This record gives sequence, structure tokens and C-alpha cells, in this order.
Amino acid sequence: MAEMTWELFHRQVQACGMCQLHKGVRNKVPGQGDLHAPLMFIGEGPGQVEDEEGLAFVGPAGQLLTRMLAAIGLPRDRVYICNIVKCRPPGNRVPEPEEAEACRLHLRNQFALVRPKVIVLLGSTAAKNILGPEIRITRDRGRWYERKGVWFMPTYHPSALLRDPSKKREAWEDMQSLRARLMELGEYGDIYGPR
Ligand code: URA
Repeated sequence: MAEMTWELFHRQVQACGMCQLHKGVRNKVPGQGDLHAPLMFIGEGPGQVEDEEGLAFVGPAGQLLTRMLAAIGLPRDRVYICNIVKCRPPGNRVPEPEEAEACRLHLRNQFALVRPKVIVLLGSTAAKNILGPEIRITRDRGRWYERKGVWFMPTYHPSALLRDPSKKREAWEDMQSLRARLMELGEYGDIYGPR
């Protein structure tokens, strides 16, 4: 098999027709950011603005994510951001399990290329797809899951915070926990200082 590269990854996403979703999109939204970031965010799927621009988390939810990162001192371009599915589901519906499964290879390739140490799962769809269907976001948010040396934490999706600002306090706690984990791992030493 050909060695995976970012160029090949992007070509495969653009050419992908593994599920029905590609038929309705203006742009595929592969994901973007620091290609070797220690920290990766995974959301659900592109919304309207993302579909128009071909970039992940650039609409209202994305702007909130940028502010959440700023709150723990991280510029957005220091993390990698992507979604479970790379094509916008019609009307922003939740991706079907078959659609998430069809897109999984792309996510695996991103994971293999970035090699993050920490992954934040934004919302129920990302958390269930990555950690398992038993995950309940209200119960399990802020918990840490270690899998093969990589740390995963589910938290609320920023869209959920926009709909229900009373969840912001918990999301803030999760971001503090994220910062603590990154410091403990010695990541972003230029921002957080040496371990
Ligand atoms: N919501 C998501 O899950 N992903 C995006 O890229 C934008 C909004």
C-alpha cells in the first residue's frame, strides 16, 4: 500500500464517494490545523458555514471553540481540528452510523499523520463513535480515557453550549482539565512553561 501522506489524504477525501453525503456538498471539509499538533479536536460534521468554506469549525460553534482554546492560552493554529464525517449531512442532521463508518478510514489516516497525544471529543456523536455507544455525554464529559497511550476526553459540543449557556461552567472545567493534562504531559512547553 502507498505510504500515507497529507497530499494523498486530501486527494482521497476530495475523491471520496464512500457514502451518500458527498452528493449534497459544496465543499468537502477534511480538517485543518497544526499537522503535528499534540492536541486534536474531533467534532461531528461540517455545518453550513464549514460546507461553504471547506474548513472545519469556522461558523458560530467554531468561533466559540476558538475562544475556549484562548481561555487556556492556546492559539487555534496550534491544534488540529476535524470531524467524524467530512461532508455536511443535509440540514445538519446527525451522521448515520454507516456514514461515520464510511468516513472512519479518513479519520484513521489523520490520526496516523498527526499522532496527537490528547484528543478532545466534541459532543455525543464524536464521543460515541470513538469511545463506544455506551458513552453518555452529560455523564461522561470531563472523564479521561487512555487508549494505547493516547488520552481522550469527551466534552460538550460548542453548539450545545450556544444552545444552553448553563453548560458553559462544566465546559470551562473540562478545558481546565485539558490544560492540566497537557502540562502533565509536557506539551506546549513554550506556552505553559517547562514541566
Ligand atoms: N459542528 C461540527 O461538529 N463541526 C464543524 O466543523 C462545525 C460545526
